[in-house]
Amino acid sequence: MAANWKMNKTVNEALAFAEAFIHLGKNAEVDIVIAPPFTALAALSRAFSGTEVKLAAQNTHAEASGAFTGEISPDMLKEFDCQYTIIGHSERRALFGETDAEVDKKAVALIERNIRPIVCVGESLQDRESGQALEIVAQQVQKSLESYPSGRAEELVLAYEPVWAIGTGKTASPDEAQEVHKAIRRTLKELFGSPAEEIRIQYGGSVKPENAGALMAQKDIDGALIGGAGLAHESFAAIVRYQMESKG
Ligand code: 13P
Repeated sequence: MAANWKMNKTVNEALAFAEAFIHLGKNAEVDIVIAPPFTALAALSRAFSGTEVKLAAQNTHAEASGAFTGEISPDMLKEFDCQYTIIGHSERRALFGETDAEVDKKAVALIERNIRPIVCVGESLQDRESGQALEIVAQQVQKSLESYPSGRAEELVLAYEPVWAIGTGKTASPDEAQEVHKAIRRTLKELFGSPAEEIRIQYGGSVKPENAGALMAQKDIDGALIGGAGLAHESFAAIVRYQMESKG
């Protein structure tokens, strides 16, 4: 269960969240990941050390270093114990022009430094209304993982986030989400064979304590990437607890 904080929380706000949330991270039976802004990674890596809460960055550059003003490399993320990094989020694709080819390079750069990529895919409302959701998403998966080493497939995380469900309060129904997750799993099998069964596929898009259970009960939905409800420790903890109970 991962919280993507997007461009929210100062260091002090991040630390206040950590203090209230930390008890859950001490004996968690599910993987808990927080993706704060870059600026809060150092403070959170200290605050969560010795707990099972893991950190993710929200983006990376694919190169190790160089003249790329304003960018951050996988080696720099490693210094803050980032075990995961989100790439290809729909906001980065729509607002910053990130392409599947760039996501592909980033995924390879991350796994070479032993950082697990969380690769985001998802269709627009227009794609869904024209009946092309499955095709568009399968294509994004293929192109975003074209160069990804098959021997590292099990470390991949996919996040299916329908663009029309992000921050809108509209959630894909459990059946709608499962249909796409199943198609993603099929595409991953074509790319990587049987290890695809082990790849985590998260759902994202207006996940809340009230709808998380029904979504997570679906066969191919293995976790969630949570925006708004991941900003408050109460709602994120409620979603994590639900997942722990349903597993236990
Ligand atoms: P919301 O949960 O706010 O819809 O955001 C989802 C998301 O984009 C997570 O990456």
